[in-house]
Formats: sequence, C-alpha cells, structure tokens
Amino acid sequence: VPVSPFSLIIFGGAGDLSRRKLFPTLFNAFSSGEFPQTFSIAAYGRQELDDGQFRSLVRQSIEEECPDHRADDLDSFLSRLYFLYGHFEKAEGYDRLATLIESFPDAEQLLYYLAVPEASYETIINQIAASSLPTEAGRVKIIIEKPFGKDLSGARRLNILVASAFREEQIFRMDHYLGKETVQNISFFRFANGIFEPIWNRNGIDSVQITVGEDIGIGHRGGFYERTGAIRDIFQNHLLQLLALVAMEPPTDFHAERVRDEKIKVLRSLRPVSVDEVADCSVVGQYAAGSIAGKKVPGYREEDRVDSASVVPTFFAAKVYIDSWRWAGVPFYLRTGKRFPVKGTEIILQFKQPPLKLFRDDCNPLEPSFLRIVIQPEEMIDLHIGVKYPEAANMLYPVDLRFSYRETFGTRAIPPYRRLILDAMRGDASLFVRQDDVEASWSFTDPFVSYWESRDSIPFYPAGTWGPGEAHDLIEREGRHWIEPL
Ligand code: BG6
Repeated sequence: VPVSPFSLIIFGGAGDLSRRKLFPTLFNAFSSGEFPQTFSIAAYGRQELDDGQFRSLVRQSIEEECPDHRADDLDSFLSRLYFLYGHFEKAEGYDRLATLIESFPDAEQLLYYLAVPEASYETIINQIAASSLPTEAGRVKIIIEKPFGKDLSGARRLNILVASAFREEQIFRMDHYLGKETVQNISFFRFANGIFEPIWNRNGIDSVQITVGEDIGIGHRGGFYERTGAIRDIFQNHLLQLLALVAMEPPTDFHAERVRDEKIKVLRSLRPVSVDEVADCSVVGQYAAGSIAGKKVPGYREEDRVDSASVVPTFFAAKVYIDSWRWAGVPFYLRTGKRFPVKGTEIILQFKQPPLKLFRDDCNPLEPSFLRIVIQPEEMIDLHIGVKYPEAANMLYPVDLRFSYRETFGTRAIPPYRRLILDAMRGDASLFVRQDDVEASWSFTDPFVSYWESRDSIPFYPAGTWGPGEAHDLIEREGRHWIEPL
C-alpha cells in the first residue's frame, strides 16, 4: 500500500533519540522509495536552531548512521526538513506550528510524533488540543512511544487525555518490539504450520521462558532509568507483548482489531499477583561492576546521573501463569536484564518429556527438547532435539534444526522503527498497542513495581553475568533452569 502525501511533526525532533534513530530511519525509508513525492517533516523543540542549522545536524547523523547513502538522496531529503523553536508548555509555539503546517504543500495526512520523555506527553497533547493545530479523524494521526504512562492510573489518565483530542483509530502507541520481523514471525510460525499448534498448549508444553537481555548498561540514560527501572522499561511492554503473541489464540484473520482482541484476552487472563505475593514469584537485581567480553565496565550506581545508593532494578525475573484453558498450569518465566554477557532476546517453549526414559543420558545429560525463537541479535528459530550418538549403543546427543533469517533471505530484517512508522502512515494499526492492552498490562505490572519500589536494598550481580543468584533459585526450585541465549 503506497504511503499518501504527508506532513510529519516531530516533537523533540532535535533530541538525541530523533537524531540517532528517527531521522536515519526516515531517510532510509525515503531512499528506498517508500515515501511519496510530496512530504514535509517539521521538528519542534527547545533548541534555538534555524532550518539550516537543523538540516546540518540531521545531515551529520545520517552520514554517521547510513555511510552508504547517495548524496543527492540526502540533499533531497534534507530539503523537506524544517525546524521550529518552541517550548512544549507555551501555547504560542503551537500556533506558529499550525501556520508552518499550512505553508506545506498539500498533504493527505498529518502525523504528530512524540519523541520526548514520557513526562512531557500530557503537556504536549493538552497544547495540541487547545491550539489551532488540526486533529480531525481521517487525516490526522498521533504516534506515541512507550512507556505509555508510569503506572495504571497514569496510563488511564493519559488514555483519557489522548481520547479527548483523538479517536482510538488515530492513536498509534508504539512498542518497537512489535515491529521486529521475528516477533511478527511468531504468528506466522504458529498459525501457518499445522505441526506445532496441536502441542502449543498445556498438553505439549512444560514451560515457557522469555528473555530480553542486553549486554549494554544504561549508558547516558541515567536520569530516565532512575525514574523507570527494568520492570517499567521492559517487563510491562516488550516482555508482556511477547508473552501475548506466544500465548494468544488464533485470530479469525490478521486484521488489526482481531489480533489485538486475542492479545488482550491473554493479558486479562494473567493470574493477578498481589503485592504480598510478589516476592514469591519475582526477583530484582542491579548490575555491579564487572567485565563484558574482556572489558571492565562500571556498576549501575557509578553511572552518570544515577544515585550512588540507588536501588533501581536493572534486572527483573518473574514466574507468571495464564489462567486460560490452553495454558492452565504452565509456568511462564520472564526475565530481562542489562549487562548480561551477551545481547539476546529469545523465547523458549520447553516440551514435555516423553512418558518413559528409555535412553541413557548420563554421559551427555540431555535437556528436554525445546523450540527456541531468537528475536535478536540473529533472527532464528531452532528446534532443539536429541539424536542418537554415533556408534554408542544407547546415548543421546543434542542438536538444533535451524532456520536462520539471514541465511535464508540473504539479508537482515527491516529495522522495526521503519516498519512501524510506515505502517502508521498507511493507517495500519496491527503492530501498535491498543488502549485496553496498555491498561491490562499496567494493571498486572503495578503490584510488582509497588512492592520492589518499597524495598531499600537490592541484590547485585556482576556485569557480565545472567543476573543475581535469586533468579536461578526462582526457576531451579521447580526442577528447571534458565536456557541462556545463544
Ligand atoms: C527500549 C528500552 O524500549 O528498548 C531500552 O527503553 C532498551 O532500555 C531497548 O535498551 C532495547 O531495544 P532493542 O531493540 O535493542 O532490544
């Protein structure tokens, strides 16, 4: 579906995230021919820049991030960029923005993109609603990045506020995990191959593990992370979205609303955990100094703009249950952490053991077979099974049957931001998060946040390890163990 002529307004458009991620992504989409002839992009922000200075900044970022670009493409892209200096809380800037938009060539759609810290969302939406900026359905859309709210009540307040200015079909709440190719492949894999679906339930699956792990620390985002922590930053959104896709029922079709209807059923079936139960089924941790790939790295408390006595978690693991017919009794172990030994986001579906153990596995202890869906860094799907070891009479050997995205398609997957921005421009909301979805996931997450925020100490794990010992106890006391990312 071609993208119709557009004007895109990026609040916070000269910020670090926009310059490093958003503009290179937009440029990529443009240079791959996915943009229409007519488009204009205006950034609104607090930096005192004129169009020329802003274009030079963006030129610099694109030159760094896209070294293979064609010079005439870049010039042509930059010529459609504008910058408007203004404060988020001052009405006059929004009226100037409305005048600027009117001067743009005719566009069939207008998109607002909030690339600002979550704390500024309410101010900006209020100001848009109060100004002369257009908001009408059918033509205007708004893209809002995660985190959507800080807790359930914040998410509800924000939902009510956005709904006062925009209809649900105009709102695109972004969780970039949903734009990753392998995440979308979960549904294709499940529903296009008859072989797995009959065992994709409590009869065939012993347990599920989902890991969102990173080797990086919090970098220059200390201020943001101190207010957020791993539970809000990753668990409430990326982890619960992955869980919903793995566990949902087949939708009647792949229309946005049908898929979102199925995901919300999963989130609503999560067995609620009360504040009193949190410590029994979850674990937090914070990285201390250590080393990764032979390089020494500081602990979280030594990072820039982090309190030296901070108890903010950089690791979180939880065991949760989905009380549905399909999943009754199957534990889902979810974990996320910064400063793991490697970057790796994986979903493991561990199959039930056969009813009898006929083979010797003492020389080469065999893990139960499992399906490994590797979301990143290398998109893959592995079926981990046991085969007979050559010659040995009765010995098993673990092997992987592998699909590799790169080997099969000879290319890397399209970056998720590009996919999502283009989808929003085409009006396809399938890969965006709906209002009820956000509220259901916050409602499940809130007790975890409340309990762990009320503690005044936190277990540490050295950078370059898989989290604190408590995380291993969480799963090992049930006779299972974490299967580490590849
Ligand atoms: C973001 C989090 O949503 O996801 C970051 O705010 C995290 O803390 C990032 O680093 C991870 O994204 P990806 O795509 O690199 O796994």
